[in-house]
Amino acid sequence: MWDFPLVPEQASTVAPEVDQLSLFILAINIGITVLVFALLILFSFLYARRSESEVPPQYHGSMLLEIGWSIIPSLICLVIFIWGVKVYAEIIVPPADSTDVYIVGRQWMWKAQYPTGQREINALHVAVGKPVKLTITSEDVLHCFSIPAFRVKSDAVPGRYTTMWFQPTKPGTYHLFCTEYCGTEHSRMIGKIVVMEEADHQKWLSEKAELGDALQGRKLFSKLQCVTCHAGESQARAPSLEEIYMKRIPLAFDKGSAVAPGTTVLADENYLRESIRYPSARIAAGFQYPSIMPAYDESLVSEDEMFQLIAYIKSLKKGQTPTRIEQTTIPSALGAPAVRK
Ligand code: CUA
Repeated sequence: MWDFPLVPEQASTVAPEVDQLSLFILAINIGITVLVFALLILFSFLYARRSESEVPPQYHGSMLLEIGWSIIPSLICLVIFIWGVKVYAEIIVPPADSTDVYIVGRQWMWKAQYPTGQREINALHVAVGKPVKLTITSEDVLHCFSIPAFRVKSDAVPGRYTTMWFQPTKPGTYHLFCTEYCGTEHSRMIGKIVVMEEADHQKWLSEKAELGDALQGRKLFSKLQCVTCHAGESQARAPSLEEIYMKRIPLAFDKGSAVAPGTTVLADENYLRESIRYPSARIAAGFQYPSIMPAYDESLVSEDEMFQLIAYIKSLKKGQTPTRIEQTTIPSALGAPAVRK
């Protein structure tokens, strides 16, 4: 009978919690609005002026009233805050067993890329009941990756990785929107999230099988001659990249200035990306400023290839750096080292 839903379908683990909190806030808003209007109407009758000469009694404040209308709203805000932090913490921290998917937004499409190599445009196929962690970036302007049925969204920011995760609870097809105005075809920057049964998803993955991201990254690593300096055994020219992911790296320079000894940086995706795009931005202890490494901008390493290089670096174990091809010069055809401004 009621075919006008207030909220979209709930199709992820966090959706019911987000809805409960939103409805709680909506209920408080309605409650306060009703209270204000009811008192307004009541008082306009109760305290209407009865004769021309009537002078109303004067009030000079009420301690009880003052304390009441300070404490009660504060408590309501505190409840909303604590509840909000709880839900936010759940939305922001992906479970350890999440599947990684990389998303690149650009005017005007979404590109998705699986660690196993599958790629899609304006679509994302995932398995029901399996947590998925998205690492998102943009090639041009701000976009926002939003799946209303899952109650999650995250900005796609050029030059930076943002993450979000979800765990779908029902098979089906759900809308994907860009929810950040990004140009004339923003409204057409849409897609679908297809939630499949686990077995169907495995079948889908194997049908679309391609070289995995890390393998693609390994090819790039050779093609771009990274191995010339990032050799496993020697750290003469550049740090070894083996097992570097999520380690704390001692720094020597940050944006061109020497830093205090003991300063470190976490080698997460954002740091690895920055070090490829802007090698002189932050320099590891033991190396000189500016970096001898050329800057690999978008014309040399696209955002898709960046994900592949990072996937490769993440997978690189001790002793696995490919042996150096006989090559004595640093790749210099690419221009002088660039300094991030
Ligand atoms: Cu992309 Cu709006």
